[in-house]
Amino acid sequence: MPIKIFSAALNGLDAQIIEAEIDASYGLRCFNIVGLADKTIQESKERISAAIKSSHLKSPSSQAIKLLVSLAPAGLKKEGSLYDLPIALGYLLASKQALFTAKYRIIIGELSLDGILRPIRGSLIIAAKAKDEGFKEIILPQANAKEAALIEGIKVIGVKTLADALAYLESRLDILPTVSEPQSSKNLSLDKDPLSIDLSWIQGQELAKRALEVAAAGGHNLLMEGPPGTGKTLLAKAMASILPPLSFEESLEVTKIYSASGLLLENNFILKNRPFRAPHHTASSAALIGGGNPLMPGEITLAHRGILFLDEFPEFHRDVLESLRQPMEEGAVSILRSNSRANLPARFTLVAAANPCPCGNFNDPEKECSCVPAQILKYRRKLSGPIMDRIDLFIKVPQIKFEKLTAKENKNQSEKIKEKVSRARTIQKERLVKIPGIFTNSEMAVPQIEEFCQIDGESKEILKKAVNSGKLSARGFHKVLKVSRTIADLENSAEIKNSHIMEALMYRQKT
Ligand SMILES: Nc1ncnc2c1ncn2[C@@H]1O[C@H](COP(=O)(O)OP(=O)(O)OP(=O)(O)O)[C@@H](O)[C@H]1O
Ligand SMILES: [Mg+2]
Repeated sequence: MPIKIFSAALNGLDAQIIEAEIDASYGLRCFNIVGLADKTIQESKERISAAIKSSHLKSPSSQAIKLLVSLAPAGLKKEGSLYDLPIALGYLLASKQALFTAKYRIIIGELSLDGILRPIRGSLIIAAKAKDEGFKEIILPQANAKEAALIEGIKVIGVKTLADALAYLESRLDILPTVSEPQSSKNLSLDKDPLSIDLSWIQGQELAKRALEVAAAGGHNLLMEGPPGTGKTLLAKAMASILPPLSFEESLEVTKIYSASGLLLENNFILKNRPFRAPHHTASSAALIGGGNPLMPGEITLAHRGILFLDEFPEFHRDVLESLRQPMEEGAVSILRSNSRANLPARFTLVAAANPCPCGNFNDPEKECSCVPAQILKYRRKLSGPIMDRIDLFIKVPQIKFEKLTAKENKNQSEKIKEKVSRARTIQKERLVKIPGIFTNSEMAVPQIEEFCQIDGESKEILKKAVNSGKLSARGFHKVLKVSRTIADLENSAEIKNSHIMEALMYRQKT
């Protein structure tokens, strides 16, 4: 009778239960793994043999044994090194060197040659799936245990070595289940980042700071434009300091993404701060959107519930910028692979920074622009069209005078603004409580805009003029309503007033 061990496969941010069947018969020495296994799994034969030998047991290569491992379902492509541990344990059972029951247990883990278990990607996602499928226990490398224990209702056993895993399964060794502390605390406090930039570091630029506050409060996309060295990059980085921490619900979503990407650290197994991703302008579409084999989330997914900062925005390749259009609209990206489709979340706030032209002095009242018109046109073409229509706030960041640059700024501005932003976010969350997965004004769809963005006759007249003169598209119209909702929320005002509409419209002026 073949031995059955349960394990799991990771596909994007989803997992599937895998049954590893192991059949051993004595005779010819051979070791085969079937079931669309990739090269890493084929190479596991060598790792498993060495790890078993190091654990002072008889390895498949040291005896005349014919070993067949079948990973089911057979039609699903399997990749990665997480099957090392289940195959090794299955072999020990099949070769009668061990005795334990594998039922109701999920086993995952990569083996090193000396039998020590190495961390794997995606244990949080696998633990969640195992619990949903009714498994009682998950056995995995100790380094992944805290992360998996964020899922309540499944026993998480972290083990250090193959020998420990076997001793635990045979009841020769007691291992206490891992418990992660923040499991029950629904309010996460921010991890203090020693490198965080306070808004008070930046002199002047009040308009830009106000726009950052609005963008942070409602999750609205923002573009800053200005000559070199006026503080655009600094402002964008300071935005991280005015964002409230992730709620527990959001944190689980983001932690799953980082778990699947292998970016979680053992001592930082739950993410509390909102992500801030700043890919370089030479990044490819795949790096931004996600893809590859195995499927890896891209920067837009890593920025989920946080900020995607695209510095030197017009320097990004055109096709890369265009590929952002669909995810920005839907808050998710769908990646088609040879035999499957993966849906990855991507609800990020886009913060972009640009110079007005390649030399940076176009339209400057004091400096002369050295670019030829064709250069300016080519550069600015990337700042027009559909991608720009998805930006809610356009801000000029001008050169500031010496007096302003040396004036005394209030210290710790970020702390106060963060409090305001947090309050505004709480109002939004309570208002949108009935719509699952939606927490901020920027995420509202048409029905919610109609319900929550009521305006008076005078405001309607102002917007009518803007739309009929062709300055505002239908999307732009809705964006102005959403931004004015956020401005009203920052003031704790139930109604959207004229002044809120006027401020929101001001941010739509592109040049
Ligand atoms: N408003 C400001 N207040 C204080 N320091 C500033 C300000 N603007 C610029 N600086 C100083 O200039 C440096 C460069 O600023 P930053 O990188 O933000 O400019 P930038 O607008 O992004 O320029 P570029 O267009 O060349 O990327 C900062 O590190 C800071 O020392
Ligand atoms: Mg810059």
